[in-house]
Amino acid sequence: MITYDENQKVFHLSTPATSYVIGIVDGVYLGHVYYGKKLEDLTGVYSLLRTEENPFTPSVNLREKVRFMETVPAEYSCGGTGDYREAGLGVLNAQGQYGCELHYKSYTIRPGKQALCGLPSVRGCESCCDTLEIVLEDPVLGLEAVLSYTAYRDMDAITRSVRIKNAGSDKLVLTRVLSAVLDQDQEDYEVITLHGSWGRERRIQRRKTGYGSVSAESLRGETGHQDQPFLAVMTPGTTQTSGSVYGMNLVYSGNFLAKVQTDQYDKMRAAMGIHPENFRWPLEPGEEFQAPECVLVYSDEGLGKMTRTFHDLYRDHLLPEKWKDRERPVLVNNWEATMMDFTTDVLLEFAQEAAKLGIDMLVMDDGWFGQRDNDDCGLGDWYINEKKLPGGLKRLSEEVNKLGLKFGIWIEPEMISEDSDLYRAHPDWAFQLKGRTPGNWRHQLVLDLTRDEVFEAVYGQIYASLSTGNIAYVKWDMNRPLCDVGNLVLPAGRQGEIAHRYVLAVYRMQQRLMEDFPDILFENCSSGGARFDPGMLSFSPQIWTSDDTDAIERLYIQEGTAICYPLSTMGAHVSVCPNMQTGRTVPFDTRALVAMAGTFGYELDVRHLSEEDRKAVPRQIALFRKVNPVVRTGDYYRIASNRENGYFDCWEVVKKDRSLAYMTFVQTLSQPNMPSRRIRLQGLDPDKMYAVSCDFCGARDFDGRALDERSFADCEENSGGAGIGTEIGTFQGRTLMNAGMLVPRAAGDYRAFLYELREV
Ligand code: DGJ
Repeated sequence: MITYDENQKVFHLSTPATSYVIGIVDGVYLGHVYYGKKLEDLTGVYSLLRTEENPFTPSVNLREKVRFMETVPAEYSCGGTGDYREAGLGVLNAQGQYGCELHYKSYTIRPGKQALCGLPSVRGCESCCDTLEIVLEDPVLGLEAVLSYTAYRDMDAITRSVRIKNAGSDKLVLTRVLSAVLDQDQEDYEVITLHGSWGRERRIQRRKTGYGSVSAESLRGETGHQDQPFLAVMTPGTTQTSGSVYGMNLVYSGNFLAKVQTDQYDKMRAAMGIHPENFRWPLEPGEEFQAPECVLVYSDEGLGKMTRTFHDLYRDHLLPEKWKDRERPVLVNNWEATMMDFTTDVLLEFAQEAAKLGIDMLVMDDGWFGQRDNDDCGLGDWYINEKKLPGGLKRLSEEVNKLGLKFGIWIEPEMISEDSDLYRAHPDWAFQLKGRTPGNWRHQLVLDLTRDEVFEAVYGQIYASLSTGNIAYVKWDMNRPLCDVGNLVLPAGRQGEIAHRYVLAVYRMQQRLMEDFPDILFENCSSGGARFDPGMLSFSPQIWTSDDTDAIERLYIQEGTAICYPLSTMGAHVSVCPNMQTGRTVPFDTRALVAMAGTFGYELDVRHLSEEDRKAVPRQIALFRKVNPVVRTGDYYRIASNRENGYFDCWEVVKKDRSLAYMTFVQTLSQPNMPSRRIRLQGLDPDKMYAVSCDFCGARDFDGRALDERSFADCEENSGGAGIGTEIGTFQGRTLMNAGMLVPRAAGDYRAFLYELREV
């Protein structure tokens, strides 16, 4: 709900458990009053703006303008006119002078939410949310800033975005347009950011804020492996279940800045948006600029509740409608098994074996087009390599379909190899700076999709390929970051638009593909998980989480990813051991249970499985199909973190009606003389009774005795349907949550157990 109190001149945005309050100061400035746990009666709340207080020499500085500008909790800050903290908006006037000051003009409140022009955004219908638009103006520049806020009625999420309009008669240049600025009193906050590298994406980093700034950012033209457009700012000591948390996430896939700043007056400013470096956006009179959307989630019950709100919001309102709660196919991808060395015959052998194992789909990865036998050629030539695939995609997809499998392919439309027909014909189509040789990365250059002729030529080729076979799935990859971002077409004053225009072009192409091929399931990927962000999720309901398929490394990656992204979005496969990226050997069932926290599939040579693994695959798939509806649509609880304790990891998914839950426990390291682990479950109905059963996946105790009396396979064979293995007992939800249960000690490292808790 959103209301405006004319007496106090405050806007109140409320969700089920949170309030966000904005005040108009002196009828001119827009100040931030409050964001946090829900308020009811707002009497007196305006005084929180502290506009009558003076932190300086009292007799001299009271309401002196610069002092005011640098202390007032701003709703949206501007650079150059006295607010020395992080600016949301930076503008150059026709004389090239930097400075902007925004004054309140008007507002509207409406049910529902409009999509952003050219950018992905969280959806909202008239019955589920309300939108406030506040128009601010700079009368000197002739500029208008429209701040949009949407408050959801059934979840504690608020989205924000900013649209800038040149309403004057002179040309302006925007040097920064962040999407959200959030000013609060500093409460000794800690902050979580997600950092990484190739193969080590989204590791949770938690630190104190303190004076100065803490930031996460990307200048790579994409989100990147290294940082995420995500912040969780929280009171000290916040846990999964307690503490105040402000989560912020940007719906964008290019250069970004996410920053928390603490100033001399112990105030905190969190800011998020497109990175201002190398951003310059000229606005002619009448033109507008739309900044991406920032999602805010507040939780007063720790990180877990914040996580579940993000998951619900993204599943219900961001993922493509068609796929948001639909079962995804169990696929086998040939990449780790064959790299680019395959033919139709090899792939059909894969498909034959996969069909016997109960796999739903074969995905042919990189290497099917042009002269692509290794990674230094072929990108840009999106026509079939007939030597490898005689009869093309049509024949291959038909043969795969005959075996009862769906068929999917890999593409990388944003790139061009210098050794390609496309590059030989159009060397100027790659990004380049005048006089410089563009930097190669994995032997490839980035196509300038901001140019219509480039966009249309690439799209035409991809369209033709996807139209020739029966293709059910597309993995859209992007294997290098951007650099040398410039072209020889736009004039000097407009080169600063290109990085953002590139992201818009990628979105446009994804949107068009979705519309032209509405039945295809798209999975995004960028050298693993370098473009795992809400922007991409609005086009593809799943993203390849990391090229690191090692199950133990995946514990860290999936824990970090799941802090704001739903489990159903995390591409996760079982691969061979010793693992290609780490050399580690982990039991086959542990690999499967870890992959079951995501989309689930296989990335190995199904033709050469051991007898034991071959028997395990159908059982794993059956277990996946049982567990996955709860993984995909239920509530996620992080119970224990191997990152914190060094010995075990544990998470739980609970069906929305709390009648069924699955808890996965991974013992990463065994210890001599170790105790059994006490696990306190979460999210159950305290009054319900739950029958608890467990598949110990062949683990043994320290005397060599199997922990299993029955495994999932036994239950399936005898198909009573109840339980997934050894029966542990029946317990009240309250007992399981308050007193917990003991997970037995298993001998050896990397053992995983799956518990089922079913209401009786
Ligand atoms: C990077 C991806 O993450 C891999 O899964 C694979 O598709 C390769 N690219 C292919 O080049």
